[in-house]
Amino acid sequence: FPLEEPEEMEWSFAGPFGKFDQQQLQRGFQVYREVCSACHSMKLVPFRALGWEGGPHFSEEEVEALAAEYQIQDGPDDTGEMFERPGRPSDYFPAPFPNDEAARYANGGAVPPDMSVLAKARGVERGFPQFLIDIFTTYQEGGPDYIHALLTGYEDEAPEGVTVLPGQYYNPHYMYAAALAMPPPLFEDLVEYAQNQDDDPNNDVPQTVDQYSRDVAAFLMWAAEPHMEARKSMGFTVIAFLLVFCGLVYYVKRKVWANVE
Ligand code: HEM
Repeated sequence: FPLEEPEEMEWSFAGPFGKFDQQQLQRGFQVYREVCSACHSMKLVPFRALGWEGGPHFSEEEVEALAAEYQIQDGPDDTGEMFERPGRPSDYFPAPFPNDEAARYANGGAVPPDMSVLAKARGVERGFPQFLIDIFTTYQEGGPDYIHALLTGYEDEAPEGVTVLPGQYYNPHYMYAAALAMPPPLFEDLVEYAQNQDDDPNNDVPQTVDQYSRDVAAFLMWAAEPHMEARKSMGFTVIAFLLVFCGLVYYVKRKVWANVE
């Protein structure tokens, strides 16, 4: 089947000094919450993560309010019954379906994959020699590139010779087949960005499929690796230390062996 390479996007979090854009993560979270979470679970992410630094970084009150909007299965209580209660920051995002069978039944035979680490579980096949170059450019954005391409890549007409089964949607970016069971989830103006609700229209973010896709892809990258910023800054410190240490060791060696004939 025809497979199209995802376009390589510019991400704020790319490269050794990359950082997430907090506003973008908040918008991406809104897209996840209002659109994707109808079908996709994100079971490994707790509400409290939304308040962490290096993430959407919502305030403590906002996180509590967000969590309380969800109903969480708990129990058994004293009488042995299961019950539902409003979510707390320590809870995890509840799944839209009770199990995979129910999810499969509701989605025409396909299970929407859990989104906790989806952005890292998907990537782009770059081939030789590009993958060798990627080691030095620290390219790790194949997942978000792919998600953005998939969400913006649906086409109405499949090319000749490609059969699309009922309940499937043609998308030349989908990596496993010509079509997938996910209908195009995003449309222009589908999500009213909270950020655009102030009185100043000058800093409004476009409410387009392309923008939604960028924002939700960035959000999923954060969800898959919420400590990325800490990892990169620690990595930089370690490399800087090793370079200095390397120089020291070299001069110590010269000094120690200076009098040996
Ligand atoms: C699969 C993203 C909304 C149903 C996928 C995949 C991604 C994705 C990245 C995996 C493709 C792969 O395996 O390579 C999103 C995003 C959404 C969203 C970012 C929100 C903007 C939805 C909605 C539904 C849905 C609302 C249900 C109506 C599915 C299904 C699959 C899937 C059934 C599995 C497809 C198959 O195996 O054929 N989605 N999705 N998704 N999604 Fe979504």
